[in-house]
Amino acid sequence: MTLTEPHNRLPQIIQGGMGVGISSWQLARAVSMRGGLGVVSATCLDTMLVRGLQDGDPGGHLRRAMARFPLPDVAQQVERRYFRPQGREKGEPYQLLPMHSGLGSAWSRTLITLSSFVEVWLARQDHSGPVGINLLTKIQTQTLPGLYGAMLAGVDCVLMGAGIPRDIPGILDLFAAGQKAQLRLDVFGDAPGQKALLTLDPAEFGQEGRTLSRPAFLPIVSSNVLATMLARRASGSIQGLIVEGPTAGGHNAPPRGEMRHDDQGQPIYGPRDHVDLDALRELGVPFWLAGGTGSPGGLQRALAQGAAGIQVGTLFAYCQESGLEDSLKSEVLRQAARGSLGLLTDARASPTGFPFKVVQLADTLSDPELAAARRRICDLGYLREAYRQPGGGVGFRCPSEPVEAYVLKGGRPEDTLGRQCLCNALLADTGHGQPRGSGAELPLLTSGDDLLRLHEFLGDRQQYSAAQVLDWLTTGS
Ligand SMILES: Cc1cc2nc3c(=O)[nH]c(=O)nc-3n(C[C@H](O)[C@H](O)[C@H](O)COP(=O)(O)O)c2cc1C
Repeated sequence: MTLTEPHNRLPQIIQGGMGVGISSWQLARAVSMRGGLGVVSATCLDTMLVRGLQDGDPGGHLRRAMARFPLPDVAQQVERRYFRPQGREKGEPYQLLPMHSGLGSAWSRTLITLSSFVEVWLARQDHSGPVGINLLTKIQTQTLPGLYGAMLAGVDCVLMGAGIPRDIPGILDLFAAGQKAQLRLDVFGDAPGQKALLTLDPAEFGQEGRTLSRPAFLPIVSSNVLATMLARRASGSIQGLIVEGPTAGGHNAPPRGEMRHDDQGQPIYGPRDHVDLDALRELGVPFWLAGGTGSPGGLQRALAQGAAGIQVGTLFAYCQESGLEDSLKSEVLRQAARGSLGLLTDARASPTGFPFKVVQLADTLSDPELAAARRRICDLGYLREAYRQPGGGVGFRCPSEPVEAYVLKGGRPEDTLGRQCLCNALLADTGHGQPRGSGAELPLLTSGDDLLRLHEFLGDRQQYSAAQVLDWLTTGS
């Protein structure tokens, strides 16, 4: 494995990939236009695409991008099936995509590839700045088509955390060479040596042999051990590292060693969770610091510590261009200005088992009563884990699905306690929540600890733009 030279094109400020849909193409484009690295989130993009089409595709952006997909027939088929010119009737449920099964179908690969293409294509319009895409390593079933679609659209950078994305650099090399790539699916209950392989062949899209530009790869790490492993033993070269601490929004790495909780049930982090930046520098790989670094002082401190810059999430999550639904955005900003927001690192909420930062906000699933009242339904299934079925096939289960179903699939009842359906809740954050009976799925917001300091940046404003965030970070004004 060789490390390439430091990636000269990557800017000091990276706007973090925030799923689902918070790091929208509009946000990434706004950031990239102003000299930062704008990043779109790949999580649930296929569902976001078909829900956007069912809501009438305001502005026609999705269809404009779909028309540029290398397989026009596919784009037309998706449009015919999901586009509703007048949008849905009030309270009418969204038509769902089939959930991933087995080793995936050609149709689901196509839709994921298309949706990833669309998001990156739109983020790249009208400027020449670099654009990145963020994927959650844990959502393995989406990885190959998510990467391939993004590369077809010319993505400049791939960022991946929430897991160990060791195989990804080699996959990017293969796709860049126009070749088939495979990714080993982690299947619970498999014996050593037993393998389930996910596959994507560019030939499926009529692209056999078509070479593509190889994006930079920036894994997201929270420890020196992982940083060293990825820099030295990944399947190909990495171009940098994002070093993320437990103050960041979204999922956090669990504390190292035995898990201990404070009296609110939050994981307790200790000195072992600090990344030793001296040791990190010795790897000779450029790195960006993430998690509570989103301030002019944070940028200066990061640079002084030898970082190439910072990755910022929370500040961008509430700017005008983000995909967060407007009324939620305004409510959080109103409460942030008053300093009345609470934040909890929930060790149980995420089906992934990773700690997840939850904004304590009325009328969202952060309210334990509302969470308990939600009837468990699993109809999106992105965070399901694969398990080996008694007959030898690969099945999928999620600790936030109905408990009986999970247990029937061999899951342990205790693993279901306190789990939230992040798929449905995070889609609701974007205003695309699924209607249920007389109501709809409720949102659940995540943010980093910087949310509690947002008033320092906000001042008297009730809203702000991505450009204002970038100006503030770089000039302090
Ligand atoms: C709303 C929200 C959603 C996030 N979702 C993801 C995600 O899907 N994948 C990921 O790697 N990081 C995610 N993050 C982390 C950000 O990309 C970024 O690294 C982090 O927010 C930086 O720390 P900060 O929030 O203190 O600025 C999310 C953060 C927020 C605030």
